[in-house]
Amino acid sequence: MESFNNKIAVVTGGGAGMGRELVRQLAREGCDVAMCDVMEENMQETLSLVSSESPEVKISSFFCDVSSQEDVFSFRDQVIKEHKTSHINLLFNNAGIGGGGSFLEGDQQEWEKTFAVCWYGVYYCSRAFMPYLVESKEGHIINTSSVNGFWASLGGFPHTSYSAAKFAVKGFTEALIQDLRLNAPHVNASVVMPGHIGTSIAINSGKILGHADAMDLSDEEVEEIKKVWISLDAPVHNYSNDQIKQMIKERRENFKNNAPTSAAQAAEIILNGVKEKRWRILVGEDAKNLDIRVRENPEKAYDPDFVTPFKIE
Ligand SMILES: NC(=O)c1ccc[n+]([C@@H]2O[C@H](COP(=O)([O-])OP(=O)(O)OC[C@H]3O[C@@H](n4cnc5c(N)ncnc54)[C@H](O)[C@@H]3O)[C@@H](O)[C@H]2O)c1
Repeated sequence: MESFNNKIAVVTGGGAGMGRELVRQLAREGCDVAMCDVMEENMQETLSLVSSESPEVKISSFFCDVSSQEDVFSFRDQVIKEHKTSHINLLFNNAGIGGGGSFLEGDQQEWEKTFAVCWYGVYYCSRAFMPYLVESKEGHIINTSSVNGFWASLGGFPHTSYSAAKFAVKGFTEALIQDLRLNAPHVNASVVMPGHIGTSIAINSGKILGHADAMDLSDEEVEEIKKVWISLDAPVHNYSNDQIKQMIKERRENFKNNAPTSAAQAAEIILNGVKEKRWRILVGEDAKNLDIRVRENPEKAYDPDFVTPFKIE
């Protein structure tokens, strides 16, 4: 797809981060966009930004939890009605949360919620919108995985649910390439694998999973994090739980500000990748380097010295 002008895109998780920037940049290029999110207030902010930046395009927003099949099919029906269309050109399966770290010690509900958003969100939206991509003259499905779609670790932290879901997203998208080539050659598929991108995902995920403020974490959760930090040689043996909570809070806040790639830069890289019909879109130099390192020596990928040593800022 060389141009997004006069096309129709669906973006999940358009309320914040990369989703918001995708909506803004698509709209600037003359693309109509339907977005969904579970954070109504954030979505309204995206809507008002885009309405003033790109008043000529049609932008719609819908509350939809992508982990619910019922919500997704209702979202799809509303999009088709609202945009008076029988096709869409672009589907960005972007919505996601981080969570479900330890399979052994973590909360089962949190594990399943993370997996449901990150995998079933992509699956349900693909099921719902694929016939409408096929109806288009030119279509593209863009599924956001992560570097955790090819490397299942988070700097020494267990990261089981998120990684399992992101590996599934990557595998599904790669398998779709052949399926589409055979059955709908005018539709392309890309998997997006971002490195560290400056968004509020850590804070937003906390809100969605019910521990919005790090200060609300339970003693068990804090002990678990402390255990990982100590395993990474962090000198936190004598820190109280409140000190650890404060550090977690700061790290969540710093995640956005200390990133090597901004959400706007990430969206630009993703959209260029779509225009160039690239099936694998690595976002950020950190993602590219990690991809090379894992491919060079996969057996070493989970060795303790593979990750950057833990630093206390
Ligand atoms: N930020 C990073 O470093 C990074 C790295 C790799 C991959 N990713 C992936 O990129 C995608 C976008 O993340 P981001 O960093 O922009 O995060 P973000 O929190 O800024 O944006 C994600 C959006 O998805 C929405 N959302 C969450 N659960 C939802 C649900 N059930 N239904 C609908 N919407 C939902 C959130 O409310 C939020 O608006 C995610 O899939 C994430 O896993 C992010």
